[in-house]
Amino acid sequence: MQEKYSQEELAKLPFMDSDLDLEKRVEDLLGRLTLEEKFSLSKGKWNAVFHVNPIKRLGIKAYKMTDGPHGIGSGVLISRIKTTYFPGAIGRCATWNPKLSEEFGIAIGQEVREIGFNMLLAPGINILRTPLCGRTFEYQTEDPYLNSRTVVALVKGLQSQRIAACVKHYACNNQEHERFKVSSEVSERALQEIYLPAFKATVQEADAWCFMACYNKVNGIYGCENKNLLKDRLRDEWGFRGFVVSDWFATQYVTSTESCINAGLSLEMPGRLSGLLLLIPSKFTKKQLRKAFLGGKFSEETLNENIRRFLRVMFLTGHFDEKSKLPPGSRATPEHITVSRRIAEEGIVLLKNENNILPLNIEKITKIAVLGPNAKKKMAFGGGSSLVRSKYEITPLKGLQNKCQGKIEFVKTAAEADVTIIFAGLNHKGGNDCEGSDRKSLDLPQKQIDLIKQTTQENKNTIVVLINGSPIAMDDWIDKVPAIIEAWYAGLEGGNVIADILFGNINPSGKLPITFPKKLSDSPAHQSPKTYPGTDKVFYEEGIFVGYRHFDTKNIEPLFPFGHGLSYTTFTYENLQIDKETMSENDKISISLDIINAGEPAGAEVVQLYVQDVESSIERPLKELKGFQKIFLGPSEKGSVTFELSKPDLSFYDETNHCWTAEQGIFKILLGSSSRDIRLEGQFEYLA
Ligand code: BGC
Repeated sequence: MQEKYSQEELAKLPFMDSDLDLEKRVEDLLGRLTLEEKFSLSKGKWNAVFHVNPIKRLGIKAYKMTDGPHGIGSGVLISRIKTTYFPGAIGRCATWNPKLSEEFGIAIGQEVREIGFNMLLAPGINILRTPLCGRTFEYQTEDPYLNSRTVVALVKGLQSQRIAACVKHYACNNQEHERFKVSSEVSERALQEIYLPAFKATVQEADAWCFMACYNKVNGIYGCENKNLLKDRLRDEWGFRGFVVSDWFATQYVTSTESCINAGLSLEMPGRLSGLLLLIPSKFTKKQLRKAFLGGKFSEETLNENIRRFLRVMFLTGHFDEKSKLPPGSRATPEHITVSRRIAEEGIVLLKNENNILPLNIEKITKIAVLGPNAKKKMAFGGGSSLVRSKYEITPLKGLQNKCQGKIEFVKTAAEADVTIIFAGLNHKGGNDCEGSDRKSLDLPQKQIDLIKQTTQENKNTIVVLINGSPIAMDDWIDKVPAIIEAWYAGLEGGNVIADILFGNINPSGKLPITFPKKLSDSPAHQSPKTYPGTDKVFYEEGIFVGYRHFDTKNIEPLFPFGHGLSYTTFTYENLQIDKETMSENDKISISLDIINAGEPAGAEVVQLYVQDVESSIERPLKELKGFQKIFLGPSEKGSVTFELSKPDLSFYDETNHCWTAEQGIFKILLGSSSRDIRLEGQFEYLA
């Protein structure tokens, strides 16, 4: 029976009491829901793509969600709301500074709170398996350790504002090509070592409140009905207390209503889009849920558990609490813009700088030519669901104009200029850095290659600044230009930051979170049509040898290695200390070293620690990242960094015995400035 409540009665119900224990509130509310109301809470609102049905009788307001990874956008597409455009996720990850990801999480959480929503449809943390993936710019890295450290900080920051993170796309949505159909055929070892660690870390280290199930199948079963992923691993093994939402329209291809309910899918999004335009078949209409339930296809207890999780997150996000009891919201504030700017400052990567042509000296240059399709292009409002409704956006040209006004003359041709800057790269049109399809090639568009070649004939002082979010092949033109900057999609202050880097007001400190291959066929996912793009199945035959694990182990020279990034100063590594010669199972080993800024400008170095298992009974990567620290040093300043390793850092996943194992023997510790620029080496013996 549905009880009716007056406003006064409602306010006195136990679940409305914000001082009551969370689980008691959840059980109280769950106990009051009718079966039909539970059905209603299982699906998106029929005429709103980002809302869940309210239940007025119980004072349950519509639960609201918005994308996404770089700022608020598609949840408020048709409003006039203006928000902060943050750098693309790959650029944020390139800072190798998790503190900035935490600050980003806090800032975007405040923006989501300000617009009155509950959940951010981010972060996206699928591993960058192929450099062609259309969503590379939205994801973080090819490395599970860097992925985990970065995303844990982000989720903690975001949820500190009592806004739910929605970690996506769980799992193995590593390509856009045929994303609704393809099955990622992946080994247990690769799942454990490469594809799942960051997802697991968000649960175990950051208590992520929501996961988004992927479009694709994993080993033959769609994400939304994959009991192994949603129940066995996520809930039972990892201890997830939140709920799972489908990716938008993902349920249209699954087997049945009950397969999703029984697998642990709490919420199907979106509801059916209104009548005339798009009628997407969904599996969680009330009629379908009722029929499956009455037919005994799922139990009320199973449904209750799915709903219980959703209610829990409603309470965690303060859905029933007075505004005064929640963290305050704010949007596009100077503080948020500063966070966006700092991410760009630390994430932009100096790829090449021959003869120290950079930084440019504003006193010495009189004429500058600015060329290339991305000089004037705004990037915020594109790329698919990660588009951002930005308050403003400083283009690269505008940034240079701001910097050089009154000091340097802008000329039209390279021949007239002292220095030419070409803003090349990609954009967010389909087939570039864009959701829904993959890139067709690793190259820049031919027109841009021609422009670079032509320009360098006219002017040797030509600098290429790349605005894009995925690796680019450069063999054709790299030798012709003395300097290259990878600026990613750098957020609303991007143009100003790029100008600051070009003229040395900021010393670059970003490092690549992904290997740039020389050519596509060098890349592990591109060994045959079976490994990419696949047909109904795509076979992850490279196993754990993804990214630098492949390039380093197979000794293939990349264009730029994982972890690479130059600075306007240089750093010396010395005085490596390892506190023990042997380490046993429950021990920890401590590693420290000194870093010296051997040059003039202040700068930051990302010290990377890789581990190598010298002798192993199974094939292991030549090296694996197990620690990193970003250290800021003034001119000639010396600092020290310390790392700690324990058994999990030495382990691999043993498929025969279904467990993690570290084998006795010598382990090397490699410390360096990139995966290919190792400066110090040491070793110890592990006693199993
Ligand atoms: C994307 C998700 C996104 C959702 C809602 C889907 O197409 O894959 O990442 O959050 O749309 O916009």
